Amino acid sequence: MCGIIGIVSKDTHSIKHDTLPLLKRLEYRGYDSAGVATLAGDIQKQTGHIGPFIDSVTDHRTQASIAHTRWATHGGVTALNAHPHADGTGQFMIVHNGILENADALRASLPNESLVSETDSEVVAAFFHDRIGVQGLTTDAAIHEFIGAAEGTYAILLMQRDDPTVYAIKHNSPLALTRASSMHGATILASDITAFGHLSDEAQFFEDQTYCRITPDSVAFFNAAGDPIEIEPKSFEWKDDASLDEYPHFMIKEIMEQPTTSRRLLESLKTMQAAELDTFATTLKKARRVVFLSCGTSYHASLIGAFLLNQLNYEAHTVIASEFENFILVDPSTFVIAISQSGETMDVILPLKRIENQAMKIGSIVNVPYSTIQRHSDTTLELLAGQEICVASTKAYTNQVIMLIKLAERLGYDVDCDKIPGRIEECLASIDGIARELAVELKHTREMYVLGRGAAYPMAREIALKLKEIDYIHAEGMMAGELKHGTLALIEDGTPVICLIHDDNPAMRSSTREVEARGARSIVVSNTGSGEVNVPAGCEAEFAIYSCLFGHLLSYYIGVERNLPIDKPRNLAKSVTVG
Ligand code: M6R
Repeated sequence: MCGIIGIVSKDTHSIKHDTLPLLKRLEYRGYDSAGVATLAGDIQKQTGHIGPFIDSVTDHRTQASIAHTRWATHGGVTALNAHPHADGTGQFMIVHNGILENADALRASLPNESLVSETDSEVVAAFFHDRIGVQGLTTDAAIHEFIGAAEGTYAILLMQRDDPTVYAIKHNSPLALTRASSMHGATILASDITAFGHLSDEAQFFEDQTYCRITPDSVAFFNAAGDPIEIEPKSFEWKDDASLDEYPHFMIKEIMEQPTTSRRLLESLKTMQAAELDTFATTLKKARRVVFLSCGTSYHASLIGAFLLNQLNYEAHTVIASEFENFILVDPSTFVIAISQSGETMDVILPLKRIENQAMKIGSIVNVPYSTIQRHSDTTLELLAGQEICVASTKAYTNQVIMLIKLAERLGYDVDCDKIPGRIEECLASIDGIARELAVELKHTREMYVLGRGAAYPMAREIALKLKEIDYIHAEGMMAGELKHGTLALIEDGTPVICLIHDDNPAMRSSTREVEARGARSIVVSNTGSGEVNVPAGCEAEFAIYSCLFGHLLSYYIGVERNLPIDKPRNLAKSVTVG
């Protein structure tokens, strides 16, 4: 998964001041290496983050440029594997987001092309050199052949040296196009609207198996057969949160924004999104069962959704999306709800596409408008958390949980949602000090356990995930009841164990005593004032939000103590667009 940018302009533009700053806005999609190519055939690329690359790049002005930020899939993190790639003659240059599953077969069909990288993408440049440069096909004919031959996922930008035309080809990976008046009407191509949301409020979103020819004066879309097609521009509202303000990291900025972002969501569910919330509730009542589809942190939110619906006597299930089809049945009486911050997670998109015609209805809960998951659903609710930049999801996650609590409230769950933003504010202020102190104590810890029951079980998993991704601590979040069935063997003198105890739950108290009896350093999070960490009172589902605020702050401060790259942890990317 990667981010791609293309610009085609009437006048020339600067790769340093125009192209790469847009690419930087996509850095959350991957940050292993970055590169840019100009019309004159100049390709510059290097490993590492985009900031240092922009500083070191030699600026050129050009009428067309393509750029790429990489999250490595095929081949190591090396400058040779970085994009853009060119064919051996340097005539055809490409950037690619996605995975070509039959790259080896395509490569074998090009015996006369010399390829130098370990990537699946380089074969695309070689393919077009062979078909256009050697066999003499038109670019359109070569693209038809490519769409017919390529298997897998791709958003590709193709440019030929000295021809100010970019071809954009899309299947299964997202791609959007806009025109920026501030750049003299230049056409911008990007993996998503984050790249250009500050320059435009309208975009055209590519359909699968389509392509587009962009010249300085024209934009024309085509289907796989080469017939012209229309793609309606869509307007969008995108709040640009790309500045750190007074904060040292986006993670802490995004944690501290939650009183505001949660209020914004709750307000919209009474106004702008009231009708959609109704549709979700009505569909849910009609369905025989509900199945959630999500990954990572969004999966943890979906566990809360399943918990709440089961409490209300609705049959509800959730399974991590990459194993969805192995463990869940979908039939015409199933309401499928996909939950995703980015709306671009391939592990969610793939099963979603496969079950499109099998489910009663597909609903989505996403943060990024017009994302692929939203566009593949019949009904949608937006999280309105604003742009989330840190790889670790915090404010979007909290809004996912609030959304599910609000839906449950609509179906009869006893909760006063309006109190949640104030309690989040109170909680953040009251636990910040203890989270910092514990981070100092735990900064050298190599392993940790987090225990919960009921709605706190998903939170145990969520806190453990944050300790892994931000702090590189091997952490296990688990059902407290499972402890005695094996994991208790790992508890030794001083092992840190976070125990999430709602309303002094007696079974959770017993689990805590069991680990303490084996020498564990227990850290009790309580909503009754009886813990080392005390969060506001509230129902079980609310406890899931407040206890998680502690987990997010703790993992943030441990990251600070360890001097880790908090917003961009190693090996990860914000948007996981490969399956
Ligand atoms: O964009 P999504 O919500 O679909 O992303 C799912 C996961 O990749 C994501 O939640 C991931 O686990 C986060 N890095 C967790 O903080």
